[in-house]
Amino acid sequence: MAATPSHLISTSISIILLIFSSLMEFLVLASANPTSPALLLHSLPAMVLPLYLSTPNSSSRTSSNPRRLLQRSESLNRPNARMRLYDDLLRNGYYTTRLWIGTPPQRFALIVDTGSTVTYVPCASCEMCGRHQDPKFDPEESSTYKAVKCNIDCTCDSDKVNCIYERQYAEMSTSSGVLGEDLVSFGNQSELAPQRAVFGCENLETGDLYSQHADGIMGLGRGDLSVVDQLVDKGVISDSFSLCYGGMDIGGGSMVLGGFTTPSDMVFIHSNPVRSPYYNLDLKEIHIAGKRLSLNPSVFDGKHGTVLDSGTTYAYLPEAAFLAFKDGIMKELSSLKQIRGPDPNYNDICFSTDESEVSHPSDTFPTVDMVFGSGKKLTLSPENYLFRHSKVRGAYCLGFFQNGKDPTTLLGGIVVRNTLVTYDRENSKIGFWKTNCSELWERLHQSVSPPAMPPASGDKNSTPGVTPTLAPTGAPPYVLPGSYVEICC
Ligand SMILES: *[C@@H]1O[C@H](CO)[C@@H](O)[C@H](O)[C@H]1NC(C)=O
Ligand SMILES: *[C@@H]1O[C@H](CO)[C@@H](O)[C@H](O)[C@H]1NC(C)=O
Ligand SMILES: *[C@@H]1O[C@H](CO)[C@@H](O)[C@H](O)[C@H]1NC(C)=O
Repeated sequence: MAATPSHLISTSISIILLIFSSLMEFLVLASANPTSPALLLHSLPAMVLPLYLSTPNSSSRTSSNPRRLLQRSESLNRPNARMRLYDDLLRNGYYTTRLWIGTPPQRFALIVDTGSTVTYVPCASCEMCGRHQDPKFDPEESSTYKAVKCNIDCTCDSDKVNCIYERQYAEMSTSSGVLGEDLVSFGNQSELAPQRAVFGCENLETGDLYSQHADGIMGLGRGDLSVVDQLVDKGVISDSFSLCYGGMDIGGGSMVLGGFTTPSDMVFIHSNPVRSPYYNLDLKEIHIAGKRLSLNPSVFDGKHGTVLDSGTTYAYLPEAAFLAFKDGIMKELSSLKQIRGPDPNYNDICFSTDESEVSHPSDTFPTVDMVFGSGKKLTLSPENYLFRHSKVRGAYCLGFFQNGKDPTTLLGGIVVRNTLVTYDRENSKIGFWKTNCSELWERLHQSVSPPAMPPASGDKNSTPGVTPTLAPTGAPPYVLPGSYVEICC
């Protein structure tokens, strides 16, 4: 009944790498501090984050950065970028957004990932990049492209001309290439005008990054190379972003870079930026059908605590919490038939319902409440903890797994389907608001405002950017990559 070996393996890897990643982050931070021993610099396997991106002589990570301390009114006056999401976490393994780079703009489909920081696309010169959904980025076709020149804060190429980057992810794929700077546009629903930003132009990709349909990754984590940090450091958006993942069988959704007036009944939960480089939550209790699981709240504070990662597909609980969760769900569903999962290699816990209906699982499955510090509650619908059985009509499987022997709690995208999640980094909190993410703007009673400034010249010539991509066939949810959690450099 425990999670299958494969689940365990991928999870353990991701967690080991989470730890490693924090360590790296610490080393990077330490090495950025001139008073820290130079020795630390040598222990870095690859590059130091280029701090030239932030205000000279200060790190953007510190809250002493004056741009991070905007007045609320000032924050709300800043433009934001409203962007559509495509694909589906369970069908594709990720959600993507469209980003345009260069003049005239070249379009890309990028995985939105709160677990990593660099944004990159395949470079035209890349001979070791896979086939993806859009043509590679060609710097020579952009009149506004500039390579980031070799400097003391970055890893330089062997000729000491340009900066390079290298990233490794929890599921073992890698990306490396050169760092470039160009105009980035956010689509025609965005009031935010195109901005110059640093991104990676890939010369090598391996693993899932090579084989996946999406072109690359848009990193939304904390770090100087993160798109969010870059836009905040330029003072063009306030220090916040939001994701709203479409529901089961629908996918897509919305994303906002920057602030906007959040719903008054949004539930905000403290997120401690010091706890780890990831987005943490202070989870205390889980209730199933109104009944509290008998667990010591400290079970959710082991090692990295409770991490929210948009790039992870499912949710992973420490052993004791998983066992209590599974028992609690099974108790509520004792009248349902338990069936085998879609893949005999996995021990998925699945239940068949009345098969004549393509049903609404909420009629059958209990609600689950997550209770956070100060009693704040997030109610999960069945689509937030179940995935649809790919072979048996009307059957559903648990999308929560045991996190091997690791005491970290990892909440992936499944937990926030049809939930607007606002990462309010400025105020160290994360807001949750249940909604239909396919109709987010109607639900918020906010019309899509026209762009405040025209998109980059030449945008009219670019291919229409809002055609939903077709789901690549084949990959069933249980073989999808666990997460693009950045582990190195
Ligand atoms: C940054 O530091 C360098 C050397 O420490 C100094 O020359 C320069 O003026 C400083 N720049 C700012 C903006 O403070
Ligand atoms: C959400 O909205 C979409 C588009 O209007 C609709 O197809 C879907 O059924 C809605 N989902 C729910 C759970 O109501
Ligand atoms: C945005 O662009 C797409 C095609 O690129 C077009 O279909 C759509 O109408 C545009 N939306 C707005 C608000 O201009």
